[in-house]
Amino acid sequence: DEEKLYRHAGVLYPSVLCPAENLEALKATEARSEDILLMSFPKCGFNWMVAVLRKIMKSVSGKAFPPDTPPQMEFSSPDMQRMLAQEPSPRLIGTHLHPDKIPQSFKEKKTKTLILIRNPKDTAVSFYHFMENNPALPKTESWDKFFSDFVTGEVPFGSYFDHATACEKIIHEPNTMVITYEELKEDLTGSIRQISQFSGLPLTEDEVQTIAAESTFRAMLTVSKDTHSSFGSVLFRKGEVGDWKNLFTKAQSRQMDEEFTRRLGGTRLGAKLKY
Ligand code: PPS
Repeated sequence: DEEKLYRHAGVLYPSVLCPAENLEALKATEARSEDILLMSFPKCGFNWMVAVLRKIMKSVSGKAFPPDTPPQMEFSSPDMQRMLAQEPSPRLIGTHLHPDKIPQSFKEKKTKTLILIRNPKDTAVSFYHFMENNPALPKTESWDKFFSDFVTGEVPFGSYFDHATACEKIIHEPNTMVITYEELKEDLTGSIRQISQFSGLPLTEDEVQTIAAESTFRAMLTVSKDTHSSFGSVLFRKGEVGDWKNLFTKAQSRQMDEEFTRRLGGTRLGAKLKY
């Protein structure tokens, strides 16, 4: 299973989905000021947000997205990256990469950046099940082993806390918006309104309602065969807040709380998670 992951500049990546040649090719990416960049650590609701953003873009400009294009730039082969360079604006470009590894061009162009975060406990649980069920990733030894690897950043895409700490450094910038998985769950229509406003893609109230109805967990699970083929049943697992209670021991919960305080205590990003 070892070769399913490889290390690049100290961080683990999935070998098939995200080979080093993709990461190398990314250096040539030319961002545009009209792009929308979606940044999130794995398992924070990335595909949910992609679906919402694509629906918003489709409503506003009629833009259609081929269902099988990976929205993560690092999952795009060098050839696919060249196609992305031909795509008309506005483009939606997503990534799980650590903010420091995102092509410099996005900073220079001041691309609108949406940062999606999720409670680290639910993120870890979602990630664990994903490792178990995604054939592209190695199976974990046990939940306990995965938990300690997650905390130390020995999982694909590295450390949740390093990612969050790097995001904290950019969230004050006016082109940046932070949204949480938990907010999306609590108030999907309100979140869609906020995202549409931030993206400069105005929707009617009817469109907001339609997009929200199409973006619930149930609705997305129902059409997942069409949108994500066989991967859909792995990706749309449970879609709940608080599933961590089913796997975490008391000691693990305490350890995560301590790590959260140590790394994100007093930060704006940490406050957003209402942790
Ligand atoms: S990935 O593979 O890293 O890109 O995964 P990602 O898409 O970031 O996160 C997957 C989790 O998001 C949940 N999800 C949803 N929750 C609520 N509503 C909707 N519509 C929705 N769509 C996806 C998905 O179920 C994964 O969370 P878990 O906790 O594993 O169910």
